[in-house]
Amino acid sequence: MRAAPVSVAPGTVALIGGGPGDPELITVRGLRLLRSADVVVVDRLAPRALLDELRDDVEIIDVGKQPQSHPVPQWRINELLVERAAAGKRVARLKGGDPFVFGRGGEEAEHCRAAGIPVEVVPGVTSAVAVPSIAGIPVTHRGIAAGFTVLAAHAGIENVPGGRDHTVVLLMGISGLAGSAAVLAHGIRGPGCPVAIVEDGYGERQRVTIGTLGTIAAIAAARDVRSPAVVVVGDVVRLADSTAPDAPTALEKEA
Ligand SMILES: C[S@@+](CC[C@H](N)C(=O)[O-])C[C@H]1O[C@@H](n2cnc3c(N)ncnc32)[C@H](O)[C@@H]1O
Repeated sequence: MRAAPVSVAPGTVALIGGGPGDPELITVRGLRLLRSADVVVVDRLAPRALLDELRDDVEIIDVGKQPQSHPVPQWRINELLVERAAAGKRVARLKGGDPFVFGRGGEEAEHCRAAGIPVEVVPGVTSAVAVPSIAGIPVTHRGIAAGFTVLAAHAGIENVPGGRDHTVVLLMGISGLAGSAAVLAHGIRGPGCPVAIVEDGYGERQRVTIGTLGTIAAIAAARDVRSPAVVVVGDVVRLADSTAPDAPTALEKEA
């Protein structure tokens, strides 16, 4: 196998999945490419601590999006990548999680390639899998869950296959939590199906909240659960680390 170059080539873009926020959860290749960049275009949920160790002359462009507020629109992010690369810069686009999991990485790569800018995509550890693991929850587990579906907020929730043995992971799912829980509870999962929410995984506000489809919306409201958070639905939640806050023993009996 031919060794890949360890730096971003001038005039190209590296679309780097930074993982779920912990600076140690980026890939070795992602870190190498990031360190070689002249320009870094960075998202809010990317591992921003890594920016502190970059050279002083690196241009850092913060396009960090807050929920309900997108300071730099997607079209402008696309343009920035092309403009800097076309000027001969080594461009790193540092994103949270994996660039191709609800990260609009596909759109950015398409835009660059359409403008003649070569792109390397570096996969990242997605929050959809890593953040549940903070609570000790595997998204699949032999004999408990044979598959999982990842959704962005509410879109497509009525078509999720399976029952409690098919894990549902919701990203961006807090504002619509009550509606999502109601739809899933109405199906074969039922209101007693376990649910966990992990807020701000690997961050200062990291917190785990556990309930059921029937109770989670009220519990989350009472605890003022906020984004960013990953919601996990299914029997795998029963495997949550019993030393975590709100251990699964708190789960209500099935309705
Ligand atoms: C626009 S999506 C991007 C997902 C990303 N591409 C990935 O693979 O993880 C952003 C959502 O991911 C989830 N998320 C990302 N990082 C997180 C973290 N550290 N803790 C909790 N949720 C996180 C939240 O649901 C957040 O609203």
